[in-house]
Amino acid sequence: MKAPHIKITPPGPKAREIIQRDDRFLATSTKTSPLVVRKAKGAVVEDVDGNLYIDFTSGVSVTNLGHVNEDVLEAVEAQLKDFWHFAGTDFYYDIQVEAAELLARLTPGDHAKKVFFTNSGTESIEAAIKLARWNKEGKQFLAFLNAFHGRTMGALALTASKKVQRERFAPWMPGVTHVPYAYCYRCPYQLTYPECSLWCATTIEKNYLNGLVPPKELAALFFEPIQGEGGYILPPPGWTKEIERIARENDILLVADEVQTGIGRTGAMFAVEHSGVVPDVIALAKGLGSGLPIGAIVFDARLDFGVKGAHSNTFGGNALGCAAAVATLKTIEREGLHKRAAVLGEAMHKRLEEMRGKFPIIGDNRGIGLMQATELVGEGMEPAVKQRNRVVEEALKKGLILLPCGQSSVRYIPPLTIEDELLTAGLGVLEESFKAVS
Ligand SMILES: Cc1ncc(COP(=O)(O)O)c(C=O)c1O
Repeated sequence: MKAPHIKITPPGPKAREIIQRDDRFLATSTKTSPLVVRKAKGAVVEDVDGNLYIDFTSGVSVTNLGHVNEDVLEAVEAQLKDFWHFAGTDFYYDIQVEAAELLARLTPGDHAKKVFFTNSGTESIEAAIKLARWNKEGKQFLAFLNAFHGRTMGALALTASKKVQRERFAPWMPGVTHVPYAYCYRCPYQLTYPECSLWCATTIEKNYLNGLVPPKELAALFFEPIQGEGGYILPPPGWTKEIERIARENDILLVADEVQTGIGRTGAMFAVEHSGVVPDVIALAKGLGSGLPIGAIVFDARLDFGVKGAHSNTFGGNALGCAAAVATLKTIEREGLHKRAAVLGEAMHKRLEEMRGKFPIIGDNRGIGLMQATELVGEGMEPAVKQRNRVVEEALKKGLILLPCGQSSVRYIPPLTIEDELLTAGLGVLEESFKAVS
């Protein structure tokens, strides 16, 4: 059967029963959609009541090769038969080295690199924080308002996206100063690009480093090449390069959080490649294992801890995760899926712009590759939060899975392998959903 195909408005009876049990036993701090998945393949998802959906979420930018990708499946199955886990931080095995070699080769920069494997995005950020402090006399950090870097106490200190993520959790790691990000649609300085001459970047040096946080106190500057959870905010040309210059000239480590933007999502293997910037540290997770939990930091080899036991974990570089990562990276490279994302992203953006002409509720369409979003607005550019939530609900009822981001945006992150017809059909459902709430 072809997606979308809705037999019964979700959540159907089987879904409702599972949601009730979930409500009883799972912590009530997660879950945003009443979709109960039974099976998924490629960009198509079947729920427990037999409805078929098109997936514009990829498990939040994780299953970039589509659900149950055959190459990854084969690699993980082969590894499952050999061994599953062997404390890769204490012992040696080839698949872990192969994953590190691939990451070192594929990440930007020709310099020698090293890898530390983690289990999630937030753990990659923690590793980057510790690596920066290990290397630098300064122990503080710069990060951006609206950033999302994770929820453990170090990463949470860098995160400044939504109130609910921080409320009642203080004190988190001290020593983080946040500066406004390059959010052109709602410029924090009410300026316009390019006449602004990238004031949002240069002010960091002029006003922050020159007064508030002397560079000597700083270990690193953390940034997302495109802010993800914060609303898919794409900085204007030149901004990332200026951030790199500021970090270099003030001897601050530059950490790119590519947890959401990496692994082919934006039309390049890593989003920083669009700007030509070479960070000292790149933090990864999400798409790296196509759904098996694995993360990593890839860093300039000169920053290596060099002392055994200084930083470690149990599951980092787990054999199954590494097998999935190697297969994922090789498949993207071999099939040029990042390039496919660039082409599909352009077509998607064009279609979204056509919709903007029809629905005044669409304030801004932005993104690159298959990391696109729409910001919904009301009168006077007021964030249209309720309407955004309704678009997500309407789309689900019509067979399209969406996720919100930012205050009033909806994001589109289908698998890079999504068939052209499914992408077109999904955009059709999206248009109907905009119509329904307009
Ligand atoms: C940019 C970024 N960094 C870090 C994280 C945290 O990753 P995780 O949820 O795997 O801890 C996320 C998660 O959405 C993210 O988007």
